[in-house]
Amino acid sequence: MNTPLDNPSMRVSVQVNGQALVRQVECRKHLIDFLREDCGLKGSHVGCEHGVCGACTVRVDGQIVRGCLVLAAQADGRHIETVETLTPSPALRALQDAFVAHNALQCGYCTPGMLMAALDLVEHKPDANREQVREWMSGNYCRCTGYHAIVDAVCAVLEKQKAGGLQASEVRA
Ligand code: FES
Ligand code: FES
Repeated sequence: MNTPLDNPSMRVSVQVNGQALVRQVECRKHLIDFLREDCGLKGSHVGCEHGVCGACTVRVDGQIVRGCLVLAAQADGRHIETVETLTPSPALRALQDAFVAHNALQCGYCTPGMLMAALDLVEHKPDANREQVREWMSGNYCRCTGYHAIVDAVCAVLEKQKAGGLQASEVRA
């Protein structure tokens, strides 16, 4: 029989997508499992579970991280964003539209992580060229599309943004 010492837990207070949450979690639980199992946010996926595929990409205090490489305990007191929080964002909508228009998803398993990485690019590297887009997105694996369509979609949104198609308020500084 397990005792509390076999399976220690701690109280974690976080802001998830702007909502304050307090949960008692196993000290060894990863952030992605905490989000999916304890917070009910299934948008972020679990793939390799060792930091390679990017399916679990979320943001902690504005920085994209691998949810499978961060413990929930390490997120205590921090602001977490998952793909769910971005739904009202016009920038994300532009990416979603572009992914559809360019056939940049098939099974969709990689797509939440791709969208988080792509949104980060739109926000922080708006002048990226195609090669820089490829490099930025290279940490996210896709087993279906062959990547070209994903790069096409991201480049299309960057071009739209450069042409003024996205308002300044649509992306964060
Ligand atoms: Fe985290 Fe693959 S599941 S990087
Ligand atoms: Fe299937 Fe990317 S669309 S893994």
